[in-house]
Amino acid sequence: MKEITQKIQVMFSELGDSQYGGEAVSQLEHALQSAQLATDAKASQELIVASLLHDVGHLLHALPDDAPEKGIDDMHENLAKEFLDRYFTAMVTEPIHLHVDAKRYLCRREDGYQALLSEPSLLSLHLQGGPMNEEECLVFEQHPHYQAAIQLRKYDDAAKVPNLQVLPIEHYLNMIEAIAL
Ligand SMILES: [Fe+2]
Repeated sequence: MKEITQKIQVMFSELGDSQYGGEAVSQLEHALQSAQLATDAKASQELIVASLLHDVGHLLHALPDDAPEKGIDDMHENLAKEFLDRYFTAMVTEPIHLHVDAKRYLCRREDGYQALLSEPSLLSLHLQGGPMNEEECLVFEQHPHYQAAIQLRKYDDAAKVPNLQVLPIEHYLNMIEAIAL
């Protein structure tokens, strides 16, 4: 088994129970629901794995679960990219890196999107710079992985359902093995 596959298993078994930033699900539940939504949508293997791992940045720092309530942006999208870059191609790491910007983009570009965000997500939006302006949207659209980031963001936003039955993490280990560098 590759080093990263083992690391992912260990991280989620040790830290997956932590609360997903003020939401009604744990980090593991959130990750598995995101990956399930990507799977159901027949997304690429890379986007499924990106969905599973998009919030590992939250598991890589020692800040408390409620950091946003204290006015702290944990910059988890950057932490995740730094950690994952050694193990995956940009097809996995860039949608993860951009998933916060995707929220800021959708707030500007998609009618009704912001109104559907959860309370914790709105709180972090504020810390992350708020909705993009028009110029920022145009720059974002130049990124080769921006559409994948938007897809990931939609799975992310919907992956907050308490007690949902989903595939376990073991289901994704072969996929991680197959696409990891
Ligand atoms: Fe998330």
